[in-house]
Amino acid sequence: MEDYIVSGGYPLCGRLSVYGAKNAVLPVLAGSILGSDAVFLKNCPRLSDVSYTLEILRRLGCRVAAEGGEVMINPASASSWRLDAGPAGEMRSSVNFLGALVGRYGRAELPMPGGCRLGSRPIDLHVRAFREMGVNVEVSGGVIRAEGRPRGTDVRLDFPSVGATENVILAAVMSKGITTLSNAAREPEIADLCGFLTAMGAKIRGAGTGTIRVEGVPSLGGCEYEIMPDRIVAGTYMCAAAAAGGEIEIENVIRPHVEAVADVLVRCGADIAFADDRALVRVRHPLRSAGVVRTEVYPGFPTDCQSQLMAVMACGREKGVIVENIFENRFRIVPELRRMGAEIRVNGPKAEVRGGALRGAELFAGDLRGGAALVIAALGARGESRIHGVDYIARGYQDLAGELSSVGARISVGK
Ligand code: UD1
Repeated sequence: MEDYIVSGGYPLCGRLSVYGAKNAVLPVLAGSILGSDAVFLKNCPRLSDVSYTLEILRRLGCRVAAEGGEVMINPASASSWRLDAGPAGEMRSSVNFLGALVGRYGRAELPMPGGCRLGSRPIDLHVRAFREMGVNVEVSGGVIRAEGRPRGTDVRLDFPSVGATENVILAAVMSKGITTLSNAAREPEIADLCGFLTAMGAKIRGAGTGTIRVEGVPSLGGCEYEIMPDRIVAGTYMCAAAAAGGEIEIENVIRPHVEAVADVLVRCGADIAFADDRALVRVRHPLRSAGVVRTEVYPGFPTDCQSQLMAVMACGREKGVIVENIFENRFRIVPELRRMGAEIRVNGPKAEVRGGALRGAELFAGDLRGGAALVIAALGARGESRIHGVDYIARGYQDLAGELSSVGARISVGK
């Protein structure tokens, strides 16, 4: 496994462009097996999680071709409703294949999903929703087995889970009747999935709201679709500029998608201006306090930017507080930041961060966003940091070291 070696203390300057969203493309790829014809995707990010998903599609019998940011999937030859452990066990999002396989075959068998270590990550909401749609789901011995053709009905989620919302939609688009999903997740990636399925011929209303209505259709065709830009990558770049200082322009940004992160960074003293699809981020140190920041479902502050913000707070001088409301176990970077000199007190879901002059250290990435956060902290620290475990970062960032180096960061890749 490779390491990143980061020399901190150099401000960023230049332009970065945001590529397609990981959390949008993964359910879209799973949904591609619902069609009878080829789908062509543009703006696909080159990430290890995307490679795993393309391998899953091949194993299901699809024809797959990928070049640069363009991907073609032809599901016409697919015949298997079973996923073996291999790549499917590696990712949380492989659970999207539950909805897609049940939607196509009325049955599915797949391993319990893996992914980053963020607490227990259960699938009870998925299972309950499927049962209400007439699909029997059993989980035993690390395997999920589902049987039954989904039928339209009213489903209410106890919590607006992103994955459960996507799975219900995937199962409903070719079911008999009308499915009304209430307390649905409103994350932009859900609207992107619905846009893709609609381009294939699905009938969906209310995408992006808390109530989604899906009228089942007998079949879906192929389509061409462009994946939305990754709002978490945009937020990560903004946090990197905040920690390092300097001035960067970020292209391919949808303003409402990044506003929650931008607002907090403005409180810290960043100057952020939007024009068309660009964000101009200017930061002069010292940073001010972010106050209290709570992670929430969209449009609140995203849990996927929480670690990056903690790294920014650790680079400031004033005290800030983070309350993590979405995932347990998402403070894995705390011991690493402490090693760099930050003072952090954790009490359940609450972390009180008092920054200081961070110094470079030997650091260990334990999950995808935490790994990116360590890079951010290292940019704002004095001296050199060596970050181990950067394979996690490649799950969700296209060459993070190269991108940040292109705007003046001093990052090299070592063994
Ligand atoms: C997706 C994103 C992830 C993001 C998260 C929240 C993908 C591939 N991943 O994950 O990056 O951090 O949304 O925005 O899109 N829960 C249950 N039971 C369930 C399902 C979820 O208790 O059946 C809990 C989870 O443990 C977690 C919370 O609900 O505490 C949110 O999970 P969910 O919205 O489902 O996130 P994911 O779809 O896993």
